[in-house]
Amino acid sequence: MPLSRLVAPLFALAFALCAGTPATAAEVAMTPTKDDMKWLLPKTPPSPADNQPSAARIELGKQLFFDPRLSSERNLSCASCHSPLFGWSDGLPTAKGFKSKVLGRASPTVINSGYTTIQMWDGRRATLEDQAMGPMESMDEMAMNLESLFTWLNSNPSYKAAFAKAYPGEAIDKTTTSKAIASYERTLISADSPFDHWLRGDKKAMNASQIRGFRLFTEGSPRTGSPTRTWVVSRSSRSLS
Ligand code: HEC
Repeated sequence: MPLSRLVAPLFALAFALCAGTPATAAEVAMTPTKDDMKWLLPKTPPSPADNQPSAARIELGKQLFFDPRLSSERNLSCASCHSPLFGWSDGLPTAKGFKSKVLGRASPTVINSGYTTIQMWDGRRATLEDQAMGPMESMDEMAMNLESLFTWLNSNPSYKAAFAKAYPGEAIDKTTTSKAIASYERTLISADSPFDHWLRGDKKAMNASQIRGFRLFTEGSPRTGSPTRTWVVSRSSRSLS
């Protein structure tokens, strides 16, 4: 018998024995470390002191988010570009806005946007409250005349009642409209992945290779303890247009 016929199976056996030993698994601690735990999202995103969530605020924000009457041609709502049918985006390479104009940038998902500390691809908005009126005012997006928007909202009985419940004694204006939309957006949460389960204590939710990958991916990230996980993940997997 040629030597190679003997040697090859021996190598295969030795390789299988090595691969089967727990050495590789042992290299990776399966329990989340203190650093790993920094990526655990709080149950709900933090809300500003002057806009603590309530059922009435969230419900009003939801109505506004899905209402195309907030656009000049009454055909575009926030949900046109951030649709639950498309993972709270639009399934397009870049967004389509006012009169179907193809815009320069893609619509990001708004899932977990309540956890991020900057908004928009270039981070030009700090909070969801800061961001919410932008699309209505933009001539490329909802192209709404704000004066007529607030005249209409103030004369609509159903919205008047909803605003009075959500923000009693406050005007129906940019401030309360943005606050309501932001309150709703903070309820759009995804925290049920194997990774989330692993951080919450289920050691079997991730395997050794996944844990190693996570630690490599986040190594040296400038985390300060604030939950910017979704920013790091989404921004690094997509490029600016
Ligand atoms: C015509 C499509 C379109 C409409 C309508 C629209 N958006 Fe967007 N949205 C975008 C695009 C495109 C971006 C990214 C723009 C950029 O970074 O310059 C964006 C970004 C955002 C972001 C930032 C998310 C992140 O992760 O940075 C939020 C929040 C958001 N939109 C909420 C809203 C709300 C609230 C409305 C309704 C008032 C709305 N959008 C209406 C297309 C749209």
